[in-house]
Amino acid sequence: MLNILTSKTNTIGQTKLNLLVIPVIGKTVLKSLEKSGFKDSLHHHLNFADLTDQAGSSVLFYPQDRKFTERILLVQLGKNKNTDASKTIFKAIGAHITKHATTGIVLPAGQEKILAPKILSNAFKDSFRFHEHRTKLEDADKHKLETLVLFSDKKIDNEIKEALVFGEALQTLKQLAHRPANKLTPTTLAEAAEKVGKENKFSVKSLNETDMAKLGMGGILSVSKGSDEEARMILMDYNPKAKKTIAIIGKGITFDSGGISIKPSKDMHEMKFDMIGGATVIAILQIASALKLPLHLVGIICASENLPSGKATKPGDIVKTYSGKTVEVLNTDAEGRMVLADGIAYAQKHYKPNFIIDIATLTGSVVGALGTKITGAFGNNSKNNKDFAKATQDCGEDTHFLPLYTGYSEEIKSSVADLANIGKGAGAIAAALFLYEFIDKKIPWLHLDIAGTAWDKDGPTGVMTHSIIHYLRTLPKR
Ligand code: BES
Ligand code: MN
Ligand code: ZN
Repeated sequence: MLNILTSKTNTIGQTKLNLLVIPVIGKTVLKSLEKSGFKDSLHHHLNFADLTDQAGSSVLFYPQDRKFTERILLVQLGKNKNTDASKTIFKAIGAHITKHATTGIVLPAGQEKILAPKILSNAFKDSFRFHEHRTKLEDADKHKLETLVLFSDKKIDNEIKEALVFGEALQTLKQLAHRPANKLTPTTLAEAAEKVGKENKFSVKSLNETDMAKLGMGGILSVSKGSDEEARMILMDYNPKAKKTIAIIGKGITFDSGGISIKPSKDMHEMKFDMIGGATVIAILQIASALKLPLHLVGIICASENLPSGKATKPGDIVKTYSGKTVEVLNTDAEGRMVLADGIAYAQKHYKPNFIIDIATLTGSVVGALGTKITGAFGNNSKNNKDFAKATQDCGEDTHFLPLYTGYSEEIKSSVADLANIGKGAGAIAAALFLYEFIDKKIPWLHLDIAGTAWDKDGPTGVMTHSIIHYLRTLPKR
């Protein structure tokens, strides 16, 4: 983990830095730096440097004396107060940040509390590489940043503490998500959850296939049938004495080949990421526990592989889910909803939650509709939908609510079972409606389809972690 230090701006010069990042507005140096020893050289560079007024414009220079810093990066914040200064600063720093061991960043006055966590979360994001299985690292792959010094005249200890909590939990999430299917199975995912639980004081147990067969969890078992790896229903429990119980249920498919309805081989390897919903649930419990949220959180991961074999579920098979409802499996690639159906039913029966959130890389259809930057959301309570949308906005994460349009409910009916596991079109909506069939209508519910946003070219993104925590924090008051 990164070493984070804070220091007053008048101490610049006392710590030896490899890089110092200084934001400027127009041609003026921040007030806090007016008294500093290097003010003159700053003014000089501001006058001559190729720094435009455009936010994000930057100049790197090497002070001749190299007294306390080898490099100074001037970053233009621009005069428009609405632009997000943290993004501007971080874009400008770009690759510079990982190249040096010690970097200092001056936080502009008035924005310290907002900027510090954002800068840190960006720094953590940048510091994460999945190198568990690299036996040799090129110089360019090496991450050199060890110490980040934030120069601030406001106290930002709490903000930093919190940013570290998020940083660590997101690291767990990304580490797990990156692991390919031969390194992460439902069993080892359960072990990973247990480890996080031990370190963060929440209890973790899991149901194995024998337990699930006894309970009649035909949904998750139908998905796992084709695989030699045992499925697990991972149950995490934080702060059971609190008044309000929130169940958070994640899709934990450690590999989704599609099963007998097999996927095309192009990009199939990415389906190792089909457990990111589950990993997000672990991260959320880890953060909730570190921040001592006054809620009872039940985290459930429906973990399984989805593979074809002589034992696999075949299209047309009918299975009985834990809720008692029967499902005709028309497409074995629509497996996420099958495992979640049992997770939802288990949560309702055993924990009586006041609120249910599920998070899943559920449909290719949501990627078609909203692309890779917007999470698809659904909910059965318009007030909660609104509040959650607000929470995501506050966190800078983009979501769009799609309709739980019951006009399509007919499409997921079957003539030979209670439900069919696919509809006829509007794939993301059909999947949400399918899940809705298992929700006790009295319980407010949010469904997040992160198929498009859970990972990008750099790997897992940790999407929705901040938003969910931010939203949960508002719940005890209501
Ligand atoms: N895990 C996939 C959804 C997915 C696709 C996630 C692309 C991320 C990127 C899910 O299990 C799936 O296969 N869904 C099918 C459902 C269909 C058969 C009704 C889909 O959306 O194509
Ligand atoms: Mn699938
Ligand atoms: Zn899947």
